[in-house]
Amino acid sequence: MEFTPKVLESCAEQLRARFPHLPIALAVVSGSGINLALPGGDKLAELSYQEVFPFPVHPLLGHRPTLSLWRVHGQGVVLFHGRFHLYQGYSAAEVAAIPRLAALWGASTYILTNAAGSLHPQIAPGSLVVLSDHLNLQGANPLVGEWGRWREPVFPDMSFAYDPQLRQLALSLARETGFAAWEGVYAGVLGPSYETPAEVRMLGQLGGTVVGMSTVQEVIAARHMGLRVLGLSLVTNYAAGIAAQPLTHQEVLEAGALAQAKLIRLITTLVERLVQP
Ligand code: HPA
Repeated sequence: MEFTPKVLESCAEQLRARFPHLPIALAVVSGSGINLALPGGDKLAELSYQEVFPFPVHPLLGHRPTLSLWRVHGQGVVLFHGRFHLYQGYSAAEVAAIPRLAALWGASTYILTNAAGSLHPQIAPGSLVVLSDHLNLQGANPLVGEWGRWREPVFPDMSFAYDPQLRQLALSLARETGFAAWEGVYAGVLGPSYETPAEVRMLGQLGGTVVGMSTVQEVIAARHMGLRVLGLSLVTNYAAGIAAQPLTHQEVLEAGALAQAKLIRLITTLVERLVQP
């Protein structure tokens, strides 16, 4: 079946019919090596991506590809465990299916986490970078073609793609949680090879703070849908050439796992603040 806006609308309709009386307040997406939960929340369901999305789902590295649905103060919070990446061969529309589905299901806020490499010696692995902006270097845009014509605006403004209020809140809560917290720009590349040291120098000169292979397609689609966006990069490694050793995916997963408890605490606190009783 061709993946069209109509098909996605019917996926969202099925979810709303399956969980009536549960207004969805927000969605959280976790990246590589990060397994989110909401301790204290009431977990209502866990659905595999294959039952939810109308296209073939490959196994995702480091993830059970599922979403879990939680009730917090009578409202729904959806956690997406793992995302679709362009480098896996998914189209930009498929990569953008997560925020679009979240918005059609009723969410108004989209919190995304990702694993990223640091472009700056001061920003060490284990730090958290609250995203203030991004560079789309992926050569794709999820609004090309019928997905852009689907709804207004055809040319969405990206001046405040990452919500200023949410950024302030996240920065203060991240510090309280014990993260070295920074604010910065996400340089989104295609991957899946890591960058060369020359590319890492270029990304720094272009204004990037961290580099990763996800996020920007989702944020463009999320803004097109009118979602408020918060982006959090967990720094798992120094980008190539900043530290002496070569990079491995294992290192990225391990750093994600180490920071997991702190990240879960931060997300839980953010959700508590954003979902009012
Ligand atoms: N480069 C690109 N993507 C990444 C990195 C990196 O160094 N670390 C985690 N994701």
